[in-house]
Amino acid sequence: MLEIGKVAVIGAGTMGAGIAQASALAGYRVVLYDISEDVLHKALTGIQASIDQGVVRGKIAAEAAEAAKTALTLTTSLAEAAQVDLVIEAAPEIIDLKRQIFGELESQAPAHTIFASNTSSLSINVLAAATQRQDRFVGLHFFNPAHVMKLVEVIRGDFTSQTTLASALAYVGQLGKTAVLCQDTPAFIVNRVARPFYGEAFRLLGENAADHATIDKLLKSLGFRMGPFELIDLIGCDVNFAVTQSVYEATFHDPKYRPHPIQQRMVESGRLGRKTGRGFYEYKE
Ligand code: 3HC
Repeated sequence: MLEIGKVAVIGAGTMGAGIAQASALAGYRVVLYDISEDVLHKALTGIQASIDQGVVRGKIAAEAAEAAKTALTLTTSLAEAAQVDLVIEAAPEIIDLKRQIFGELESQAPAHTIFASNTSSLSINVLAAATQRQDRFVGLHFFNPAHVMKLVEVIRGDFTSQTTLASALAYVGQLGKTAVLCQDTPAFIVNRVARPFYGEAFRLLGENAADHATIDKLLKSLGFRMGPFELIDLIGCDVNFAVTQSVYEATFHDPKYRPHPIQQRMVESGRLGRKTGRGFYEYKE
């Protein structure tokens, strides 16, 4: 098993920032990479505020909070980010972009470095094929908010070695999270079973059976922590739409997984959810 000491997270969006925070709090040295300085600084401010909030809530010891803040560095250099034991890519859900990132990382990272993708739905085998290290490639799918949610799907590609798998499982364990081992099937386990949760809610809304708030209220009354529209606003309408499209493509247009026009309308009108201040609901600062 590879001893992981230093981790890079590629992409400082919502998921990347959450993974970086969880990793720093678990004692890893963390490099957070993004092409945009602005995105990196916003992510850092958010991570610091969230760690402070964790201290106030009594979830994080003050010393651990300080250590985590010191352990986290930012970079816009992919070559610098590549000098670690484990790289976790959390770029947008666009297969060509992810493959391009892994292709570039391949030429810059040391031979021992394990590559992981936080993809929600794309094939780990297809991403791994952009590199020369398919044995050191694995899926690590976190859930939003990544610093709170306990589950991580660990996805084994056809060529993922036992050593890589053991190292990935040890990393997830060190984060204090629960790993679930998955095969490389479209959307793995959670996003696959979650499709009807979102899909039927969109159909109900599209048929004017009820408004989004009523549908959310009904689902919560059954025990869900969030209704589908609240959850989509949290995840991002763009992310949810991208995952729906990717599952639909991967299943050769199985009508069960067909995206809904409301999803497209929300994305194209910029109502992406919490991150833009407006999705199905409105969010004040
Ligand atoms: N640091 C440490 N702990 C924190 C924290 C912080 N900054 N902020 C909150 N917490 C802890 C709280 O202390 C609390 O812990 P407890 O349960 O032990 O008391 C817990 O997190 C919940 O926090 P809150 O009480 O503030 O918030 P809520 O009770 O309103 O819960 C929520 C918020 C966790 C988002 C909850 O509503 C929830 O679980 N929603 C469902 C989220 C979900 O399903 N996510 C998956 C989406 S799918 C996805 O991401 C896949 C992708 O591929 C698209």
